Amino acid sequence: MKIVVLQGSPNKRGSTNILVTEFIRGAQESGHSTERFDLADMNLNPCTGCVACGYEGPCIQQDDNEKIRTAILNADMIVFATPLYYYGMSAQLKTAVDRFCAYNSSITRKHMKSALLTVAWNNDTWTFDALESHYRTLVRYLELQDQGMVLGRGCGTPSMTKHTQYPKMAYELGKRL
Ligand SMILES: Cc1cc2nc3c(=O)[nH]c(=O)nc-3n(C[C@H](O)[C@H](O)[C@H](O)COP(=O)(O)O)c2cc1C
Repeated sequence: MKIVVLQGSPNKRGSTNILVTEFIRGAQESGHSTERFDLADMNLNPCTGCVACGYEGPCIQQDDNEKIRTAILNADMIVFATPLYYYGMSAQLKTAVDRFCAYNSSITRKHMKSALLTVAWNNDTWTFDALESHYRTLVRYLELQDQGMVLGRGCGTPSMTKHTQYPKMAYELGKRL
């Protein structure tokens, strides 16, 4: 299957990247093709809320969102990857998700698979409560089929992250798809 990874950390060599790299390694070993978008490097503007798209149609903004739209509509799975920023997803990832507005029904109709990869500094049990709830709500609303979440607590730096079980969990999630 074709998998699109929306990588929402501005740190290309950061902890989110560690989980993404491991997930992709596992998925490719199982024969899947992956396309990764490092959102911070892209020319991606926030939704202006003009609704010229009518919630399903061309967006009036001429930016890199078209690349993401084309990839997602040709794919079978979306992976949301983000560092935890103030208990939610990063602005980079939220910007890409908001732009789903212009192809919302097209996504819903596809019943795509999905997964969440995320890291945070905190190690409390409640660290990901808000982000997990948001992700589960997106799954429900967009009629996605959740394949799993890797919620990396205590992953404040790449060296911390490398010493946790989460990179292995991300690899295994990709591998078992
Ligand atoms: C703007 C900002 C907000 C953050 N908010 C949180 C937070 O709410 N909870 C938390 O545990 N860590 C928070 N962190 C820490 C990051 O989630 C953590 O360091 C993560 O490993 C960064 O991932 P990266 O290496 O992919 O950038 C925040 C970091 C930044 C820069």
